[in-house]
Amino acid sequence: MSGFTAPHCGALRASDDGREVELYGWVARRRDHGGVTFIDLRDRWGTVQVVIRSLEAEIRNEYVVRIKGKVTRRPGGSENPKMATGDVEVVASDLEIISESHPTPFPIEDPEEPDEKTRLEYRYLDLRRPPMTKMLELRSRVNKIIRDFMDRNEFIEVETPILTRSSPSGARDFLVPSRLHPGNFYALPQAPQMLKQLLMVSGVQRYYQIARCFRDENLRADRQPEFTQLDVEMSFCDEEDVFSLVEGLFAELWREILGVSLSVPFPRLDIKESFLRYGSDKPDLRYELEIADLGGALHETRAEIFRKVLAAGGVVRGLSVPNGKDFARRELDELVTVAKGAGGQGLAWLPGPLDKFLSEGETGEIRRLTGAGANDLVLVVADRRRKAETVMGLIRQEVARRRKLVREGEWKFLWINPTYLFEEDDQGKLTYAHHPFTRPFDEDMSFVEERPYDVKAHAYDIVCNGYELGGGSLRIYDPAMQERVFQLLGMPLEMIRARFGTLLEAFTYGVPPHGGIAPGIDRIVMMLGGTDNIRDVIAFPKTQSMSDLMLGAPSEVDQSQLEELHLKVVPPQKAPS
Ligand code: AMO
Repeated sequence: MSGFTAPHCGALRASDDGREVELYGWVARRRDHGGVTFIDLRDRWGTVQVVIRSLEAEIRNEYVVRIKGKVTRRPGGSENPKMATGDVEVVASDLEIISESHPTPFPIEDPEEPDEKTRLEYRYLDLRRPPMTKMLELRSRVNKIIRDFMDRNEFIEVETPILTRSSPSGARDFLVPSRLHPGNFYALPQAPQMLKQLLMVSGVQRYYQIARCFRDENLRADRQPEFTQLDVEMSFCDEEDVFSLVEGLFAELWREILGVSLSVPFPRLDIKESFLRYGSDKPDLRYELEIADLGGALHETRAEIFRKVLAAGGVVRGLSVPNGKDFARRELDELVTVAKGAGGQGLAWLPGPLDKFLSEGETGEIRRLTGAGANDLVLVVADRRRKAETVMGLIRQEVARRRKLVREGEWKFLWINPTYLFEEDDQGKLTYAHHPFTRPFDEDMSFVEERPYDVKAHAYDIVCNGYELGGGSLRIYDPAMQERVFQLLGMPLEMIRARFGTLLEAFTYGVPPHGGIAPGIDRIVMMLGGTDNIRDVIAFPKTQSMSDLMLGAPSEVDQSQLEELHLKVVPPQKAPS
């Protein structure tokens, strides 16, 4: 068999006219016409029409065949401009069926997408569908461009272990029990964070890795439990070095793959500003819709709901919807549902039922602050600051979607920087905003005890069109400062020693100042491939409930395997969430 050197079905062109070829591929379609059979033969590179006179064999869709024949220009008028090979056909002189196919669970060539469950159960067939094959190719090209770019910039790729020790990244770990060390577990890496920092102590200076990461967290359309980062770390760098490296890489990817020229440097936005103006730390700037702070206009207001929230230290925020006066009541109710779904108390609007509680001066001021014109509607939220911002952010997105304000085809990259060192977790406790290795602003550490949430950090996220594509920071490299931050996070000394002792000790043997970033490759490929479903860019993804429907993972294991691992299963009282 010489399929490896045979010409590709999808590559034949008019210039191949007269060429004798041997082709291998799958039967994509078959049509019979007055004793002549036409087959569309598909391989990874595309499809070509094959003409077979007096076909004797029984041939069906998805059979694998070998064809010998002559490339011929199609008769005038029968060219197919929709096919890249549409100027030619192959007149077959010989045909061999290599393997047969049962009817497939969904048609491979149908432009209509099959339902996702079936696609995932038969992923190997789903990947045979041309748009999915293209995604695999795209991802491979992205990886190649990344590797070439990093290599040109003198980074070296170092592989770090998959069986490792837990390192905090804000999600649950996947654990692997140790057979040789009963009761002990490896953790799969949530990210190779500590290892890449240790590589800086090793003197690697410029490290990268196309690194698989594992996080047991709630899944969303842009999250998988197993995903891939372009993990980067560099020594003797400041933020500007990281920014220009990443901007150069993104500019190259967008140019090579989409032919789009991105304008660099990307704009920067302080995180506080980002939450205030867009209600998000990953704002979509393909539409305007800026949120305004209305507190200044309402301090003395008779509208009790605003007055109470402001008196309790909360905020009132407003958003003007262009020509929003024609919003139907039903639509407004739907927006209220969005607000409540995000944990908000509700939504008010102007003009609306609240008008009678607001003075003319207040209404005028609200219109001025939100930039509302005569036909615009102002949506208003009053709540605790973070809640009001999140709700407004979602309302902003929803309004843009409903009013079709998103300028499709634009690429709005930006850096969120600087950010804060700490944030409040769900229980109201202080936790790290990025991870505990992030370097604070030195000058802010003087007030860390009194106002921890105001301490800024040398951290950044790269955002595009509403997606967080990557995050990183400069790191703490002074062991005393690192220990202090761990303590501020409420970690007891023994825990610090056990979990981070290696890093703290390594910092006593000559540590360079260092920093890095980790753009998510899955999300980059999503953007470049024009999909908003992360499962489309991963060859073998998991479902929303973390199952692999094709292989049937996770699965029970033999009792003997459990015994070898010194494990006993205690069935849960209720299903885990
Ligand atoms: P962070 O946790 O911000 O940083 O992750 C960096 C990027 O990884 C991608 N990402 C994901 N992609 C798909 N599914 C997921 N579950 C998922 N979680 C994260 C995102 C995100 O922006 N060690 C640090 C980086 C550093 O400081 O250098 C880290 O992992 O695109």
